[in-house]
Order: sequence, then C-alpha cells, then structure tokens
Amino acid sequence: MFIDPWSSQQFIDYNRLRREFGIEEFNFKLPDSQKLFRRNIIFGHRGFDTVYDAIVNHQKFAVLTGLMPSGKMHFGHKMTIDQVIYYQSLGADVYIAVADLEAYATRGKSFKETLKIAEEEYFLNYIALGLKPEHSQIYFQSLRKDVTDLAFIFSKRTNISEMKGIYGFKDETSLAHVESPLVQSGDILHVQLDKYSGPIPTVVPVGIDQDPHIRLAREFTRRVSFFSVQQTDNGLGIIEKKLLEIEKQEGGYGFYLPAATYHRLMSSLDGTRKMSSSVPESYISLSEEPAEVKKKMMNAKTGGGSTIEEHRKFGGKPEECSVYEYYVYHLVDDDNYLKEVHDTCKAGTRLCGNCKKEAIEKINLFLKDLKEKREIAKEELDKYVRFN
Ligand code: TRP
Ligand code: SF4
Repeated sequence: MFIDPWSSQQFIDYNRLRREFGIEEFNFKLPDSQKLFRRNIIFGHRGFDTVYDAIVNHQKFAVLTGLMPSGKMHFGHKMTIDQVIYYQSLGADVYIAVADLEAYATRGKSFKETLKIAEEEYFLNYIALGLKPEHSQIYFQSLRKDVTDLAFIFSKRTNISEMKGIYGFKDETSLAHVESPLVQSGDILHVQLDKYSGPIPTVVPVGIDQDPHIRLAREFTRRVSFFSVQQTDNGLGIIEKKLLEIEKQEGGYGFYLPAATYHRLMSSLDGTRKMSSSVPESYISLSEEPAEVKKKMMNAKTGGGSTIEEHRKFGGKPEECSVYEYYVYHLVDDDNYLKEVHDTCKAGTRLCGNCKKEAIEKINLFLKDLKEKREIAKEELDKYVRFN
C-alpha cells in the first residue's frame, strides 16, 4: 500500500491502514469532547500522548494545520477547522498555514490566486465557524521566512532517493514539488521556534492522505535533535524533557516530536470516491445556495433499498450512505438522536426521501446562519491574518 497525498483516491479500510502504517488507534478521553472524537471519525494518531498530557495537566500546547485553497471550502474542510476550534477551547495556540507554495508547486496556482481564494472562501468561514482571534494566526508559506528556512535546513538531511521512496517522485518531478513536503515540515515545526510558541507539544489534525508528510516531519525532528534518545510515543518522561531543555540551552532546537491525528475522509455525494474540491458534484460547499443543496442531496447515493417495499422489508445501510455521513460528521450533535436515525434506518421505518429532506433542512439552516456570521467576520480579518 502506498499513500499519495496529491491524488484523490478513497481509503476505506481504516483499520488495515492503521496496521500497515503503524498508526495508533485514537482512544483518548478528552474533556468536553466533540462529536468527531466521540464518534471515532478521528480514528488514529501518532504521538498524541504528549499533547494529551499537556491537555490534562493544563499546560501549553499548539495546534497547526494547513490548507491548500482550491475552489470552494466544503464540509470536508470544515472537519479540520472544527477540531482546531475545539483545541483552541482547550487553550491551544493556533496556527493555520496557507499552503501557497505547495499550491504553486503542485497545482500551478499563483500566490495571488491562492491569496484570493483563501480570503474569499476560507478565512471568513474559519471565523464564522467560531475560531477566536486570541493566540491564533493564519499565515502564508511564501511570506514566512522561518518556515522556508527550516525547509532548507531539513533538505540538508534528506536526499533525492529518500524523497522518491516516500512519494514515488519521478525523474521528471519538478524540484518545487519535491520541496513542498519539506516546506510542510517547516510549517509543522516552526511553531516551536522561540519567536512563536517555543518548544511545545504540537498536534497536527489531518486526513489520512497527509500521513507521509507527518512521518517526514517527525523524522526531521529526530534528525536535527542532539540526543538520540527516542522520544517515545507514551508521552515524555522527566528525563526526556530535561534533555530537550539541555539541547535548547546548547543552541539546538529542542523540538518536541510533533503529533498528528487522522480523521476519516468524507466520501463524495455519489459515494464512489473521496470528496474533492475539484469535483463540485462531490461536495456541498459552505456557501452553497439552498436550491443547490437540495439538488445535490436529492441525487446523493444512499444506503437505502432499491424500492420502498424492499427498504421497508430489509432496512437501509447507514454505513454505506453518504447522507448519513452528513448526519454523523456535521448535522447532529445529540448522540441519542443520531442513534435513532441509525436504528430507524436499519429497521426500514425511516425512508430515504424524508431522511434527505431533513438533512437538507438542517444544512440550509446551518448555512444561512454561517452566511450571516461571514458578513460580521469581514470586519475581523485583520485580527487573524499575518503577512509575515
Ligand atoms: N498539504 C496540505 C494539503 O494538501 C496542506 C498543508 C500545508 C498542511 N502545510 C500543512 C497540512 C501543515 C497540515 C499541516 O491540504
Ligand atoms: Fe441513508 Fe437516511 Fe436512507 Fe438510511 S434512511 S439509507 S440514513 S438516506
């Protein structure tokens, strides 16, 4: 098995993925946890123990994520920012990278285009969804020298053959493309420089497609550290913390090994692949018009029987239904009600037509409110966005 972060294949067997790539199962009990955590949508992690320790001991930690703006911001993207907002409520420093270097390298988008999409589509939604300005910053890869400097330093610690091995790069692959994962490592680790949060447990919430980048960033952390002590994944002991301090005093970075969590990816509305910004029929965007929401939902693939009679007799399959995904990931906070949707579907008493109507109403109500909040957010942008 091979993960290609730049393609849009769908991953289905998450347990197999976890086993093959050595990703740990996520079963931390977090305070006031959000539905994404309760419902196993966040299914795996690397090194989250350090972050968990910080959370339960009320110590500082950071959350960093990045976006490669392409087209509309949709419900799949919302999932990541929901997690960021949750961590912020627990006291995390928040960093959001606009991956304009990566978008240039891999999609041919100019920095200006990326800036425009990011501003028009993403930032306002982040704020409207509830991101607070305190201790949070949105920045651009192309404008933050600390990020690209780190990328350069990391590039000294790898070589072409390793990059080919991880990403399947060919002789024809542009060097900008080869560089973009190094920049992403720069994103992930620069938050631990003194100018930002300093050495600190950091969590990077991502979809499973980003795992190769995470492994690389963790590998670089080890390669630039002075001590070969394994930062184990069971959190840091007193000795490990002391060594990081010594490393720092001696002029090293003292980086904590960054942690990552992995969430399931929402599938496309026709159920055949993962949701993708380049395929408008595959998703519902956060600025979708009500009529369009209705149309897309009405066409969505369900797990219902092929006729009403069959559905009533054999019941539906919520686990194969792209409408149900919306209920689980976004539309229903109340676990009891979600169970009711699930059970009545399975029992065949909930019919797909009604179930879709209910989803459409919920989505449209949510989007109407979000739209109003985006208007207010326009005044707030300066508090979040950094141009350095
Ligand atoms: N590669 C990510 C994507 O394709 C974007 C990204 C850039 C990112 N830097 C990051 C994600 C740092 C997580 C952390 O969407
Ligand atoms: Fe999906 Fe609802 Fe139909 Fe069940 S009843 S298959 S959850 S649309």
